[in-house]
Amino acid sequence: MSAQLIDGKAFAATVREKVATQVEKLKEVHGITPGLAVVLVGEDPASEVYVRNKGKQTLECGMNSYEHKLSSDTSEADLLTLIETLNADPAVHGILVQLPLPDHLDSDLVINAIDPAKDVDGFHISNVGLLATGQKAMVPCTPLGCLMMLRDHYGSLSGLNAVVVGRSNIVGKPMAQLLLRDSCTVTIAHSRTKDIAEVCRGADILVAAVGRPEMIPGNWVKPGATVIDVGINRIERDGKRKLVGDVDFASAVEVAGVITPVPGGVGPMTIACLLANTLTACCRAHD
Ligand code: GUN
Repeated sequence: MSAQLIDGKAFAATVREKVATQVEKLKEVHGITPGLAVVLVGEDPASEVYVRNKGKQTLECGMNSYEHKLSSDTSEADLLTLIETLNADPAVHGILVQLPLPDHLDSDLVINAIDPAKDVDGFHISNVGLLATGQKAMVPCTPLGCLMMLRDHYGSLSGLNAVVVGRSNIVGKPMAQLLLRDSCTVTIAHSRTKDIAEVCRGADILVAAVGRPEMIPGNWVKPGATVIDVGINRIERDGKRKLVGDVDFASAVEVAGVITPVPGGVGPMTIACLLANTLTACCRAHD
């Protein structure tokens, strides 16, 4: 039997509608318009597409969008000066520096220069610590989107076995923290995990965030499990370009109970959650 698909596109649209309604209210009642500043250094084509989409959807939600495109040879000092200016600007409630940065720039230094209250990516070390200790944090957008979809499906996640494959700071680690906060029993699996197939087969919830095309086959999935595929990998097959996840969809869909497709699963939720985080940052700034 084929698994139920989670329609991330439709889910993201409902999140954006809710954000737009709140933005409208903020404007009417308090005369405040949330603002998101996105900083892009260099000309990476994939990053340019993301940044364009972010700007478009920010405006569609009724928020202000400020794009700062800097050349690939921008110095660290100039980038830090821009961040200081954005930190001090009351019209800017959220700041996102698109990653990856060119090699000559220290990503950690740059991210930690952002005011944690405006860190809508949730990458600042303060937000990482707040999340890990169960305090009020800005939560990274992709894991937040995954959590929303899981809560929508299950209601309560309490007591479920969750396996997160991948240990990145952007997805794997914060995803594990969020699942733990929702009382899952959490395992993080990675490239050195012994008998990773067996570990995955113990998962009620399997989150794949490794960035390796179709690495997880259907026989790693427990029958009836929920599979959340965070991977967005561009491959070429039969002379055609294709977008695939970290899960081998064709075999996994026959075993899982519920699965997110690629494209159209987790992907659209990331920007929707970025907009939600920007609204949250704006509300907290005016509390
Ligand atoms: N590059 C890929 N994903 C992300 C993200 O979620 N945030 C930022 N800042 N850069 C990214």
